[in-house]
Amino acid sequence: MSMLKRGEVHRTAVEGFKEGTVYEKYRPEYTDEFVSHVIENLYTERHDTDYDILELGAGTGKFTRKILDKLTNFQLQRYLATDPLEDFLSVLRQQTPELTTSVCSASSIPLPSCSIQNVICAQCFHWFATGESISEIARVLVPRGRLILVWLTRDFEIGWVRKMEEVLTLYYDGTPRKIMGVWKKAFENCPTFRCVEHIDSVGSNVMKGNKNFMLNHFMSISVIVRLDIEEKLKAERKFRAVLDVHFTDDEIIYLPLKSEYFCVEKV
Ligand SMILES: C[S@@+](CC[C@H](N)C(=O)[O-])C[C@H]1O[C@@H](n2cnc3c(N)ncnc32)[C@H](O)[C@@H]1O
Repeated sequence: MSMLKRGEVHRTAVEGFKEGTVYEKYRPEYTDEFVSHVIENLYTERHDTDYDILELGAGTGKFTRKILDKLTNFQLQRYLATDPLEDFLSVLRQQTPELTTSVCSASSIPLPSCSIQNVICAQCFHWFATGESISEIARVLVPRGRLILVWLTRDFEIGWVRKMEEVLTLYYDGTPRKIMGVWKKAFENCPTFRCVEHIDSVGSNVMKGNKNFMLNHFMSISVIVRLDIEEKLKAERKFRAVLDVHFTDDEIIYLPLKSEYFCVEKV
């Protein structure tokens, strides 16, 4: 954290993204179909850039490993994975030691202007959907370079999921959240980027596990991780009460996810 300026990373992110191994275990995986869609839409015309892909907010590398596996069949292998939080990035480094990584935030990228073909943000752009970050991303991209944003979102149309979300919402208190849509407004009337494609749900994705697994999934969300022990226990009781109404202890529970894809091009 010492390299980051004060205020560059939201406090909830700093306090909530610190248990990398828990995050790895209880967060969903991206599907092959979804990651292939990202790869098919990368900008590939330039061969004189520092990197083909800069990933911001790579965290423990859930998306990174998936895309790197698939990129082995392609030319685009100059990949830089970054995250502002050393705790998360160290998990990625342990699992993928050969990959180039760097600690940085989206608003202060330690790279020259026009040095990147594509910037990817998986499950994270809402944390830094500010004019400052957008200008910084535009600075490092080459003209016609692409910024690709992806998210996996729990399907709130399912009754028990909606009730779990109602509990979760009690803990947000102004923390940036993808479903608030601020990230999308950042691109309205934005002279630097034009929208190439927005797909609300690419393919079908589902997480599955028993009641304890689902409980741990919700407990691994940043706004819960950062609570003190007493508040955490209270949240756990609330989540468990919802799950107890709907499921038995050993039942396999399915949690449907929407895979959202948003791609813009630097004008
Ligand atoms: C929900 S995690 C997503 C991690 C990973 N991309 C994935 O798909 O699992 C959000 C990530 O955004 C990062 N993040 C938060 N604020 C950021 C900022 N200002 N600049 C860059 N990354 C940031 C966090 O450190 C965290 O690793």
